[in-house]
Amino acid sequence: MEVPFLDLKTPHREIWPEVLPVLEDAFKNAAFIGGPQVAGFEKEFAEFCGMEHCASVNSGTDALHLAFRALGIGPGDEVITVPHTFIATTEAISLAGAKPVFVDIEPKTCTIDPGKIEAAITPQTKGIVPVHLYGQCADMDPILDIAKKRKLAVIEDAAQAHGATYKGRLAGSMGHAGAFSFYPGKNLGAAGEGGAVVATDKAVVDRVRQLRDHGQAQKYYHDVEGVNARMDALQAIVLRPKLKRLSDWNKARARAAEYYNKRFAGSQRIGVVHKPEHNFHIYHLYVVFVDNRDTVATELGKRGIGTGLHYPLPLHLQKAYASMGHKQGDFPVTERVASRLLSLPMFPTITDEQLAHVADSLLEIAGQ
Ligand SMILES: Cc1ncc(COP(=O)(O)O)c(C=O)c1O
Repeated sequence: MEVPFLDLKTPHREIWPEVLPVLEDAFKNAAFIGGPQVAGFEKEFAEFCGMEHCASVNSGTDALHLAFRALGIGPGDEVITVPHTFIATTEAISLAGAKPVFVDIEPKTCTIDPGKIEAAITPQTKGIVPVHLYGQCADMDPILDIAKKRKLAVIEDAAQAHGATYKGRLAGSMGHAGAFSFYPGKNLGAAGEGGAVVATDKAVVDRVRQLRDHGQAQKYYHDVEGVNARMDALQAIVLRPKLKRLSDWNKARARAAEYYNKRFAGSQRIGVVHKPEHNFHIYHLYVVFVDNRDTVATELGKRGIGTGLHYPLPLHLQKAYASMGHKQGDFPVTERVASRLLSLPMFPTITDEQLAHVADSLLEIAGQ
């Protein structure tokens, strides 16, 4: 039996009849950048996040980068985040002109360890970026406490967490800004690139709007240098019908994860990412920990099962960050997690038979 790692085709078949007439209209009117579809999506996505203000952009990377700039983070500043994330988190810090500073993760949830943040704060620290990894929120209360006490901005990297909650609060709504990605493989994915920034403070979102459009609030009058990071209408047209279905899709993923959790609960050899009771986890990724991970992945592949690695080489050990001077052993929790993690097939339309095939196979290969 084939179990792909991800199924991007089925959701598109479902939304296609809704998308088609709107798409035709956009082509007839040649309305490709901004416009009512983008404005409509921004309003609906803000509502989905329980927020009043949202600025769409053209990627999650620019959502983070422009959120930093909108909050006044720039050259000479340090921003704390984790080495266990996609490189976009730290690229965005560098794009804003600031310097990423790493703090290790907490081993059970794989999100930032709040107990290690204070030690990384210097007079240059301006912000903290908790990454809501795999679809569940970092432990936000202690992070927000530290940030308040030390007067730091909190920018949530919610690229993998659209609709996740922490103690009833939605991802992206807890800090000074929340940044989302609509890369096609995300729980809410565009037909191309896309992203968004949400914030409680309207001024922050207005600033992102200006920065995404060459620093202009009025055409050809540029208060600052910005970038071209506008969302195009075609992405909004695809995202709007998907957003209506997102809560159901997230619940379907959570049900699939519950099945995996039950099957792996008694295993001594298969670890799973812990989900604290207070989190609603949207399972962008379902990650297990096994010894001999690469062999296990190969064996699963022979049985038709797709897997992924998120992420195999921690950022502090990447060539791109060699100049930071880190070495093996600097962030031991991240390093151990990275050597044993394996992402299993996870998508809303995964069938009971497919789930059973994955669980049976993994238990057989990795051991009970
Ligand atoms: C944790 C995290 N942050 C940031 C990003 C960047 O988003 P994008 O690919 O839309 O630029 C991604 C996704 O790729 C991500 O997974």
